[in-house]
Amino acid sequence: MHLREDFFRHVAQTSPSPLALEFVKAEGSVLIDRSGKRYIDLISGIAVSNLGHGNKQIIDAIKNQADAYLHLMVYGEYIESPQVLLATKLASLLPPSLSSSYFVNSGAEAVEGAIKLARRYTGRSELISFYNAYHGSSTGALSIGGNEELKNAFRPLMPGVLNIRYNSIDDIQLISNETAAVFVEPIQGEAGIILPEPGFLSALRARCTETGTLLVYDEIQTGMGRTGKLFCFEHEKIVPDVLLLSKAFGGGMPLGVFISGTEIMSALTVNPVLGHITTFGGHPVSCAASLAALQQLTESSLIVRASEKEKIFRRKLQHPLIKDIRGKGLFLSLQFPTEEINKKVIHHCILNGVLADWFLFAPDCLRIAPPLIITEQEIENCCDVILDSLNQI
Ligand SMILES: Cc1ncc(COP(=O)(O)O)c(C=O)c1O
Repeated sequence: MHLREDFFRHVAQTSPSPLALEFVKAEGSVLIDRSGKRYIDLISGIAVSNLGHGNKQIIDAIKNQADAYLHLMVYGEYIESPQVLLATKLASLLPPSLSSSYFVNSGAEAVEGAIKLARRYTGRSELISFYNAYHGSSTGALSIGGNEELKNAFRPLMPGVLNIRYNSIDDIQLISNETAAVFVEPIQGEAGIILPEPGFLSALRARCTETGTLLVYDEIQTGMGRTGKLFCFEHEKIVPDVLLLSKAFGGGMPLGVFISGTEIMSALTVNPVLGHITTFGGHPVSCAASLAALQQLTESSLIVRASEKEKIFRRKLQHPLIKDIRGKGLFLSLQFPTEEINKKVIHHCILNGVLADWFLFAPDCLRIAPPLIITEQEIENCCDVILDSLNQI
């Protein structure tokens, strides 16, 4: 086998220096490479494996659904029980105004769907989003992203997008009767975990209601228990008009969703019919896996324990080179004085069996987003490796 050579030769590369680790198995919070070396997963590949790897109920649900049927028809035409059961379960867990689920394949697609929905429903074209936001890599999602370096290489992008400052009450006034939607992460992820200041999200909610603008919460990273609540919006009890989920939502399978009320969602049903369609959106196997994941999250104490596990990280991770620990639940960021220190720590972690990573727009910050099932002992081990590395700098 020449897997390594063929990976570089035939698998399209996203950067000149991929990690190129080769794993043969993953179980619980651990990934195992070809030599048998074990790595604790501190990143969940990114914020996906919330229930850990090889979760039995998810695997059983996948196998049972694969035995019944795989793809039958493009999304929305046939009654496929995994989709219906999942949409019904979501409706039971969400406020009544979020009762209609449109399933897609990924996070970026959920964003694309929500862009079209908001424009179609409001009859307006302007979209507002935040500096340092990340909403995905497809053209529409990139257009509403908040990083100029990433966007500049691909211009011209979608027109009519305005970035404003996260946590700026002043900038909220730029939302007007011309704004179709505001896209916001209730905790900014790729910016290096930036928490909303008290009152910011409620002011945003109020301004959107005042101007008839749809408030879209991108919970693609923060959803599914990661922040110590099933959905991050529950922390402040602010209900968005549209909710986006993906990543951990699929239980390890590709799945995304944009969720709204039936009145708003009906804007995609007619004029034109089939105005938004997807072949594989809501794949039955992905929906079955998602339902199994949601059931476990809501029936176990995993979400509550995420906040307890956060405390262990905060207690253990004390060092003069740690400038800040930000975040909620198991959605945390460790900030170092420089990007170089972060790189050294990540390198040391990987050498010593801890999978660590940085953030797209915060290269001086280390990502802590392990599976929610991570044990206290595994947390202690990860923290020891991080501290060990800082002691050598
Ligand atoms: C907040 C947020 N939105 C959207 C996306 C895009 O999701 P995907 O990579 O599935 O397209 C991501 C991916 O990291 C994300 O973190």
